[in-house]
Amino acid sequence: MASLDCRVNSTARRRANSRTDRAVPFRHHVHIDHMPLIITREAVPEDFDRYFAEAFEELGPESRHFRFFTAVRELPPGVLERLAHVDGMVDAAIIAFDAAADLPNHPEGKPIGVARWMGNPEGPPELSVTVIDDYQGLGVGSRLMDALLVLARKRGVRRIIADVLRENSAMRALINRYRAVVQPSGDPLIVRYRVDV
Ligand SMILES: CC(C)(COP(=O)(O)OP(=O)(O)OC[C@H]1O[C@@H](n2cnc3c(N)ncnc32)[C@H](O)[C@@H]1OP(=O)(O)O)[C@@H](O)C(=O)NCCC(=O)NCCS
Repeated sequence: MASLDCRVNSTARRRANSRTDRAVPFRHHVHIDHMPLIITREAVPEDFDRYFAEAFEELGPESRHFRFFTAVRELPPGVLERLAHVDGMVDAAIIAFDAAADLPNHPEGKPIGVARWMGNPEGPPELSVTVIDDYQGLGVGSRLMDALLVLARKRGVRRIIADVLRENSAMRALINRYRAVVQPSGDPLIVRYRVDV
């Protein structure tokens, strides 16, 4: 177990150092005491009933601000309902678990992140990715993005838009790995990216 701990800590340190190199402050400590085993699968509506509340609790104010553009304490029921609507075509999501986390009533492990596209009648679907705070910087966001883009290709989605707060360095680093093209957003605080699937 000790050697596994070291591997997690060294991964976290490496990523922390690479952020320091880019003059981005390290935001939090990683508290995981085991090597995460990241698995992903397509999300179904029941996942949101089962896991949404506990995962939301594990997002700090900054993560909530970056994800919802305001540091919400709780989400209005209408937003929750909208997020839980995944039909696999117009709206689809990938959920990530840490299968090495041994939790009661969690046969697949601990839910640690979700990536989705959300249909938009006025244009391409919109992308979002969320990883709970303790698992950020460990490659979970990248795994979610990879899986979401594979799913999008399978379902015939050709283009996805992402609106990202300009100050959100982590999401901007993540999306830039997918040859994202910057589009006009009409808002100086928001960078709009187009990802060709
Ligand atoms: C943005 C987010 C999804 C990234 O997920 P993650 O699991 O931390 O990302 P990964 O570990 O896969 O890293 C992806 C890239 O982001 C970089 N990164 C991660 N955290 C970072 C940080 N705090 N600052 C700067 N870059 C960071 C990584 O170095 C990596 O880039 P590289 O390949 O060039 O090294 C996650 O930080 C998050 O959920 N944030 C809060 C919610 C949010 O902002 N969602 C996006 C709304 S659209």
